[in-house]
Amino acid sequence: MKMDHSAAPLYEALCLYEDCKRISLHVPGHKDGRVFDETALERFSGILKIDATESKGIDDLHHPTDFIKEAQQLAADAFGADHTFFLVGGSTIGNIAVALSLCAPGDKILVQRNMHKSVFHGLTLAGAQPVFIAPGVESATKAAKVSDFGYIEKALKENQNVKGLWITNPNYYGMSQDISVLAEMCHRKHVPLIVDEAHGAHFGQANPVPPSALSKGADIVVQSTHKMLTAMTMASMLHVKGHLVSQKRLAQVLGMLQSTSPSYPLLASLDLARRYLVTKGRSFLQDTAERLEKKRLDLTPKLKTLTIWGGSEEVDYRDPLKWIISCRSQAATGYQLLDLFYQLGCTAEISDPQNIVFLFSINEQEKDMDQVVNAIMELDHNLNKQQLVEPQKLTHTMLFAEEGALLQPPISLGEAFQMPRKKVALEDAGGALCGEMILPYPPGIPLLIPGEEITSAHIQTIRQLKEMGAYFQSPSDVTLKSILILDQTI
Ligand SMILES: Cc1ncc(COP(=O)(O)O)c(C=O)c1O
Repeated sequence: MKMDHSAAPLYEALCLYEDCKRISLHVPGHKDGRVFDETALERFSGILKIDATESKGIDDLHHPTDFIKEAQQLAADAFGADHTFFLVGGSTIGNIAVALSLCAPGDKILVQRNMHKSVFHGLTLAGAQPVFIAPGVESATKAAKVSDFGYIEKALKENQNVKGLWITNPNYYGMSQDISVLAEMCHRKHVPLIVDEAHGAHFGQANPVPPSALSKGADIVVQSTHKMLTAMTMASMLHVKGHLVSQKRLAQVLGMLQSTSPSYPLLASLDLARRYLVTKGRSFLQDTAERLEKKRLDLTPKLKTLTIWGGSEEVDYRDPLKWIISCRSQAATGYQLLDLFYQLGCTAEISDPQNIVFLFSINEQEKDMDQVVNAIMELDHNLNKQQLVEPQKLTHTMLFAEEGALLQPPISLGEAFQMPRKKVALEDAGGALCGEMILPYPPGIPLLIPGEEITSAHIQTIRQLKEMGAYFQSPSDVTLKSILILDQTI
């Protein structure tokens, strides 16, 4: 049945809530904005008037029967799912819910090692015994991506009774693989394929962008609708397709993890993001992607020092809404590029030792694109013939084990979480089992996880990244001169 995507049932219900002007004798305590900090009221008032949460007439995210149910059905239709769950805690909550739904303590699951920290947190809470697959690395950018499917096939063969295969696709840089073969491999063994598609909510929605994971056979897909589409920050979706995964179990776990007072403006922003996408956004996306490609192709031959990655044979698809920029002669690190572009008024999404990523929306105006192009030209001109770093500083070590290696830390994440830990100097930590997550952020992929053996390559990489100016999220020692290890003597 063709659905009416011009409707936004959840948003419309909130408008009705506002228009009815009933006396609020329920939470939230700001009473639709009547009781609030006066200096900020003007900014917040529009949202406060619809900042409802579960009360009479307002449906229930944990047992949707009315407009939340309809909004989720419309989303499932737009993204090609059998069922869609709305998330108010980002893909973070989606990933944790997936781990807790699929894995009981001790259960095995195959997981790419280059996952976002939320996946490791979910596996920790579930008490799962993940077998990690070392990712592939795209040669020009050094960005981690899904490993060659031959390695994954071998991993599936060597590990029976796994609860799923979990990958991130696309990666943060917008590189994506055609996962249809993976889906077939998994389904032959009745193993669900779970895809963290946090950075690909727009995939499959217009021709020039890569196909979506659901269209290629994934069973569970987690998307940050707020990242590449137009929902408010944190608003995300978890999609389910096929019979390998229990929707009931997922609903039960999400009921444990999501707030009993979910933000309705956030939920409504999902409804509106879907409506915008289907009614206009798809054609905006196609147009924006085409114009961006044209600009990139025009700009590329003019650049002397900077480069914009244009894809490679190692990667099936490239997201046209992401520009990966680096220095041809390794004249500057990605961290330096981020600062230099910041001074020119452009804030990049992410930096790493080599690259920065500029992220465009699904509907970019010509003048905004031109401003970015001008900034790139200006920096290219300023950088010409300058060498801001000694090139040998950029010969960074491997962040991950050799592609396809199967890694099963001697102590699982859940066990490590419960163990005593002690602090040692970083240079003395080689051979010990790590007691904390060492997390360059972004991209939020841990370099070390609790229970993993610390090698001299790890130590060297941590030192190099720190020297280059990488930001590490909440290490026990911000200088990273020391590190927590598991204390196995107790
Ligand atoms: C691959 C990946 N998965 C999941 C997440 C978590 O997403 P959210 O910020 O929506 O919680 C991120 C965040 O950057 C991510 O990069």
